[in-house]
Amino acid sequence: MSALPWYEDVSPGRGTLPPRAWYARSDAPALSLNGDWAFRLSPTADAEDQAFAAPEYDASDWGTVAVPGHWVLQGKGSEAPGEYGGPAYTNVRYPFPVDPPRVPTENPTGDHLRRFDLPADWPASGGAVLRLDGVESCARVWLNGTELGEFKGSRLAHEFAVGHLLKARDNVLALRVHQWSSGSYLEDQDQWWLPGVFRDVTLLHRPEGAPRDFFVHASYDHVTGTGTLRVECEGDVAGRVTVPELGLDLATGEAVTVAVEPWCAEVPRLYEAELAAGGERVALRVGFRTVAVENGVMTVNGRRVLFRGVNRHEFHPERGRSLDLATMREDVELMKRHNINAVRTSHYPPHPAFLDLCDTYGLWVIDEGDLETHGFEDFAWRGNPVDDARWTPALLDRAARLVERDKNHPSVVMWSLGNECGTGAGLTAMARWIRDRDPSRLVHYEGDRSCADTDVYSRMYPPHAEVDEIGRRADRGPAARAQLPFILCEYAHAMGNGPGGLADYQRLFETYERCQGGFVWEWIDHGLVHPVHGYGYGGDFGEELHDGNFVCDGLLFPDRTPSPGLLEYKKVVEPVRIADGGPGAALVTNGHDVADLAHLAFTWSFLADGETLATGPLEVPALAAGASARVDLPVPPAHREGAETLWTVRALLAADTAWAPAGHEVAWGQIQVSAPVRPAPPTRAHPSRTSDRITLGPGVFDARTGVLSALGSLPVTAGPRLDVWRAPTDNDDGAPWQPDERHGPLWRELGLHRMRHRTDEVLLDAEGLTVRSRVASGASDVGLRTTYRWTSDGTVLRLAVEVVPEGEWRVPLPRLGVRLGLPAALDRVDWYGAGPGEAYPDTRAAARLGRWEATVDALQTPYLRPQENGARIDTRWVELTSPTEGVRVEGDPAFAFTARRWTTEQLDAAAHRGELVPGDTLWLHLDHAQHGIGSQSCGPGVLPEYRLDAAPAAFSLSFTPLG
Ligand code: GAL
Repeated sequence: MSALPWYEDVSPGRGTLPPRAWYARSDAPALSLNGDWAFRLSPTADAEDQAFAAPEYDASDWGTVAVPGHWVLQGKGSEAPGEYGGPAYTNVRYPFPVDPPRVPTENPTGDHLRRFDLPADWPASGGAVLRLDGVESCARVWLNGTELGEFKGSRLAHEFAVGHLLKARDNVLALRVHQWSSGSYLEDQDQWWLPGVFRDVTLLHRPEGAPRDFFVHASYDHVTGTGTLRVECEGDVAGRVTVPELGLDLATGEAVTVAVEPWCAEVPRLYEAELAAGGERVALRVGFRTVAVENGVMTVNGRRVLFRGVNRHEFHPERGRSLDLATMREDVELMKRHNINAVRTSHYPPHPAFLDLCDTYGLWVIDEGDLETHGFEDFAWRGNPVDDARWTPALLDRAARLVERDKNHPSVVMWSLGNECGTGAGLTAMARWIRDRDPSRLVHYEGDRSCADTDVYSRMYPPHAEVDEIGRRADRGPAARAQLPFILCEYAHAMGNGPGGLADYQRLFETYERCQGGFVWEWIDHGLVHPVHGYGYGGDFGEELHDGNFVCDGLLFPDRTPSPGLLEYKKVVEPVRIADGGPGAALVTNGHDVADLAHLAFTWSFLADGETLATGPLEVPALAAGASARVDLPVPPAHREGAETLWTVRALLAADTAWAPAGHEVAWGQIQVSAPVRPAPPTRAHPSRTSDRITLGPGVFDARTGVLSALGSLPVTAGPRLDVWRAPTDNDDGAPWQPDERHGPLWRELGLHRMRHRTDEVLLDAEGLTVRSRVASGASDVGLRTTYRWTSDGTVLRLAVEVVPEGEWRVPLPRLGVRLGLPAALDRVDWYGAGPGEAYPDTRAAARLGRWEATVDALQTPYLRPQENGARIDTRWVELTSPTEGVRVEGDPAFAFTARRWTTEQLDAAAHRGELVPGDTLWLHLDHAQHGIGSQSCGPGVLPEYRLDAAPAAFSLSFTPLG
């Protein structure tokens, strides 16, 4: 066979400059080449010749694309797929035949042209480099008709020396980009395949004698409180480094030790500095910090750190992985506001400006290489590039481009080789190179359980019990591994409703020194704007192979609205704990790694039956990190006897920060003072009967079936009856590769979505109405004996439900409660219970007791693939009203309610939100209990304590019509 074309050979490229540090500001001029570029798309790599690269080429009949951008998300019509093809989503599978390093003949190829003039003040002396910050998957580059070279490595920066080719006017930059290259085999991350020039293109002037590269070393000695600074310039370049705030003026290469404040994610102290060398002044921001592993624990500046992290892919619903600075900033601010302190840049180095934001705002970063070969796992890793020496230069190139570009960011505390590549000598070579080049940070890689190449033991999605075992250092494994700190580089799969069990993980992280936290998978749903579905996922863009909505598993919806999962995470990882401190006191614990509490202001409020009776400031000492104190609460205000009373104590930002204004809530806790006193329900009213109806207080029933048909003047379109079905969540459905039971499919198999209700008895007595029934599905011998007992005091109608399971129930129930239909006009909801958001048994940390109100529409959580959502737990009472009528429901004990304009069956059947069409009934679920949520869409199932096993149960609900 003839030699492979360059895009198919395994080399990383040719003609590029060695990688170097990225920096945001220098006095050397720069010219952004972002903007509209002439664009031509061809179906194969060789459909068009290279004549377009010649300066005189006439591209007037070409289209245009915006750079940075992905061509598949542009083009006329933006149909799915559009004029320039479409996005495609696969998780593990390569969407092309696996025959490395060959790629398909159908290889969409985008030719890009940009003409530019140099600014009038562009210096005549010196050189210039052309920098491309990200091109997927590879590019061949020409300037003014001269070929510069070619490169692979989509999310890595590539530079070419171009000074000798530049003209004052009418330069022509030409790029040929192929969607597929040998590099695609190294970029099998779980995300959309999105070709294009998706990051900035910049021309940078290089002043005469300017350093080619520099390395800022800034360590911190926590014993002496001093920092040591040394800025190393490549080659013999001599320069000066000044740090005005520290009064420093030193030569490059020289080390100086002075008293400094250290950098950490909680207090991101940066010193403005300047490097002046060979005609260039570069602005530096120096953060002093030292990363170490001491006695099996990772420390920064001598203190254990606890990662409250997320995995962040770069994603925007319209622009894919092409992110502008405002979106990056929004991500960082949202993270900070939700108590997140760490990011893993899954699974490639982010746009470099993102790391500047992490330095500024304070986030620990695991910076990951652009590397994943997961698709080889399906073939027992046969042919895996990380275990094939021919690929090692490409792997080392990726390691170097990661480290060199990002080495000057204090926020980066670990280098990660990549993700899900199995094992191989190529990874070892990368780790060696990184350790040699930068021994000041830890090396991370999850895919090798031997941990031979890593400084931390890292896992994804282990069950709680295993984390507990690892925490106790009782896990079996290589001896060296037992000495390493432990992190979860991925856990708590945030797909659809969930993740459940976050608080249970956090308890383990706060119990065991070795367990240093984790990174929730993942930050944002990758739902792309779609002409029909609003947001589309895998399969919505005409892909022949796809992995459905597995790409929508984030804590943010695609438009960056926080999902309930993010609110839960914020509460679970709050850095201050507020608990019951005994009579009249709160116990406040500072859970920060470093910061004291001086930056927070505390408040108390006193609630009676959910109503806030009084609030005020609470004096809390500026506790040091790790310290606790009992803080006296005031004398409770006067309140109704028998009311349920509690304190809410909140920790708020005392002053504005870069990421949130003063008053932003960081943490809170509730302390119950007294439980409600409930009077015994009276049963004064007597039922009466005509031939076709029974009347009991405000209740009107069908005499034959015993089913409620009206409450006073309010029609009940479907009387309450037992309901155990919920539209399975992604976590209920589970992932086939997870070991735990997958309840969604088992529920369906058992027919819980098609239960039948047999009426056995409708019995009237002097005190009320009793209806006995058996609820079961076809082809099944298990059932639920259900008794509905109705009584009334004349005003309130009370329903007591008793459920006794029959037969051998092998699976838990999705839910246990009643469902009823009411007029759709009742669309205002007021309640006293835990809120304001949805909550389930294992996702309930963020729900606090209080009075809440919402519309029915606002109660819905817009998961991209419709599924169970919106339950409000611990409800004492709820009122559903229209301007003219309504109903109040009280529970004994408290219950969960869900109100929707569609049935569970319709919710279950829908694949996209737009398929849910409001009907003329308001469907109200009043649940005694729900099964937990878990994280089984890619992780462990529901913990035993949150299972809803079929067992005898009794609960009551009181209905009052509201005029
Ligand atoms: C992990 C992988 C991620 C993502 C996740 C599931 O195995 O590292 O990239 O695929 O599972 O969403």
